[in-house]
Amino acid sequence: MAHWKDAFPIDLAEESRHSRREFARFLALVSAGFTAGIGYLWARRTPLEGAPESEGGAGHDHAVAICAASDLRPGQSRLFAFRDPHDKCILVRTPHGALKAYRQTCTHLGCAVRWDGARLECPCHVGFFEVEQGFPVQGPPSRPLGGIALEVREDGMVWALGDLPKPNATGSVAALPCPREKGGAA
Ligand code: FES
Repeated sequence: MAHWKDAFPIDLAEESRHSRREFARFLALVSAGFTAGIGYLWARRTPLEGAPESEGGAGHDHAVAICAASDLRPGQSRLFAFRDPHDKCILVRTPHGALKAYRQTCTHLGCAVRWDGARLECPCHVGFFEVEQGFPVQGPPSRPLGGIALEVREDGMVWALGDLPKPNATGSVAALPCPREKGGAA
């Protein structure tokens, strides 16, 4: 009977060298992929909600034209995408004629809010937000919507400029008290 080494002529030292080389090549490929992935994410980064803007609150580097101000009558709204196509926002003309814009993402569990002509409503769990500063006034949400700074330019177009600072009921940012804290939930 032939010796097993004759039947399976494998050079163990050579095999081990091959394995180490392949493993090193695999590691190099994984780290190159990881580096490319990080680079891609960095290139298309968007600030976290509530993160400070790089220049004084509302940065203008991502300004987006939404529509002509005259296109919206009091009580009307317009959807738009801000930072990227997934960054859904809503522009509304309040019943008093002011223009306001918010991210559509409900601060409860992330459903899209919609405009009911007077308030922003989240249909998922019947949450409501007032329109002046985006404070929650009814239902499960406890944090205000993300506000977008706006500008109406000379040609009458409405531009979204950047994220507004988060309003709070006691700080100087809040021009109005939170309706919930007044006990005046609608
Ligand atoms: S996700 Fe908006 S109220 Fe629950």
